Amino acid sequence: MKYVIGIDLGTSAVKMLLVNRNGEVVHEISKEYPLIQEKSGYSEQDPHVWVEQTVAGLSDLLTNSNISPDEIEGISFAGQMHGLVLLDENNEVLRNAILWNDTRTTEQCQQIYNAVGEERLLDIVKNPALEGFTLPKLLWVKEHEPALFKKARKFVLPKDYLRYRLTGQLHMEFSDAAGTLLLDIGKKEWSTEICNLVDIDPKLCPPLVESHAETGKICTEVAGITGLSKSTSVFAGGADNACGAIGSGILEDGKTLCSIGTSGVVLSYEDSDEKEFQGKVHYFNHGAPNAFYTMGVTLSAGHSLSWFKDVFAKDESFDGLVSEVNSVPIGSNGLLFTPYLAGERTPHADAAIRASFIGMDSSHQRKDFVRAVLEGITFSLNESINIFRNNGKMIDSIVSIGGGAKNDVWLQMQADIFDARIIKLSSEQGPGMGAAMLAAYGSGWFDSLSDCADDFLQVEKEFIPDRDNVEIYKKLFGVYQEIYGLTKKMNEVLLEFRK
Ligand code: XUL
Repeated sequence: MKYVIGIDLGTSAVKMLLVNRNGEVVHEISKEYPLIQEKSGYSEQDPHVWVEQTVAGLSDLLTNSNISPDEIEGISFAGQMHGLVLLDENNEVLRNAILWNDTRTTEQCQQIYNAVGEERLLDIVKNPALEGFTLPKLLWVKEHEPALFKKARKFVLPKDYLRYRLTGQLHMEFSDAAGTLLLDIGKKEWSTEICNLVDIDPKLCPPLVESHAETGKICTEVAGITGLSKSTSVFAGGADNACGAIGSGILEDGKTLCSIGTSGVVLSYEDSDEKEFQGKVHYFNHGAPNAFYTMGVTLSAGHSLSWFKDVFAKDESFDGLVSEVNSVPIGSNGLLFTPYLAGERTPHADAAIRASFIGMDSSHQRKDFVRAVLEGITFSLNESINIFRNNGKMIDSIVSIGGGAKNDVWLQMQADIFDARIIKLSSEQGPGMGAAMLAAYGSGWFDSLSDCADDFLQVEKEFIPDRDNVEIYKKLFGVYQEIYGLTKKMNEVLLEFRK
């Protein structure tokens, strides 16, 4: 039998899937790591820990799965997007990675607008300057850590660094490069114009390849530790959202994905870079060749739930916590939650806004809060669906993956709030499956990613909107939408009290 491995380098853990030629996951391993949050708005991780945990996971995968290393034809990656990994002349890491949910760079976003101009930026990279993207982080380090920045010779994104450590070869691929604000997404090349305007040396940008391109083989050192074969090919991989889309078959026009991990996204396939969304949603290169996707992002989706659990229900399991919501009526007995724990991206690009519970009543129990958190996350994702619909997109069915797809109550909630049919895939694996599919396609198992999706993916269940619930949620969504405007100013004042 032949196999591929998909590695999803996430924010809370790295997940590895061993997948056979029929698309079956025969073994999976997950290894966690912490976030480093020195102060409010900061979010970092140590890239060495990503490598240690991946190497440990791959060793476990090889030991526990009882297959011969030569049977593994290819490995590929899905990676948390935008995180800045700075490397010196020996490709040594210069500082902790600054992650996608770090919002310290509001000033640098303004500097980018001043230097490039909002319209020109949108022309070239199709996206606005947002704190989470990579270029503002580069400018932040340049300004605040100049001595360290002088030593920088290359910057890469999280999974690119991991791939480098597995192969010794340094690359970036288009789907992740699109989230740096330095890629001309139509021309698929680094924008020397933007580099020059913001005074970033274009030599810092690594060579670009396609997601399914072979970028090397497993190096001797990693083969020795993990038991992997030195003849296993390593393929570039993609941004986690691009891979989530591949792993759910979002490979043609009209297909939409809702993915709830630490962040939550609603993503829609685009066959060209020519649609106009005026930067209201992100517009990135897909991991499928010559395709694109548009996407709205809720920064704290699964994170809102894990935050709530950590603070108020530490000893409870996620399943236990979420199962409590069954007995809470729609609308959580009058409790609303906005998930702005770390600011927001879509539809309010606002690093200063923070979350709210509105309508707390002394009759409320913990389960009301849990339901309110789930509803708040889903309302936030519905804002992105609204933008797509207002721009003429027809969204009547959505594939749901990630934490939000693990629970039937939440899936039905998505159907009722999004007013769309929700599709749950069998053995849904999200970005890790997309990474495995890139390795399968790169290894020549299929003529296209769509052929691979036809073979690998099956629908398990569909959730149909309940008309009464849709109407109740429409009313609540209207109230939810007002909370942002009503709490914005208060949060700006409270900013100085956050340490
Ligand atoms: C997308 C984004 C997040 C991360 C999560 O723009 O910042 O969805 O990719 O890993």
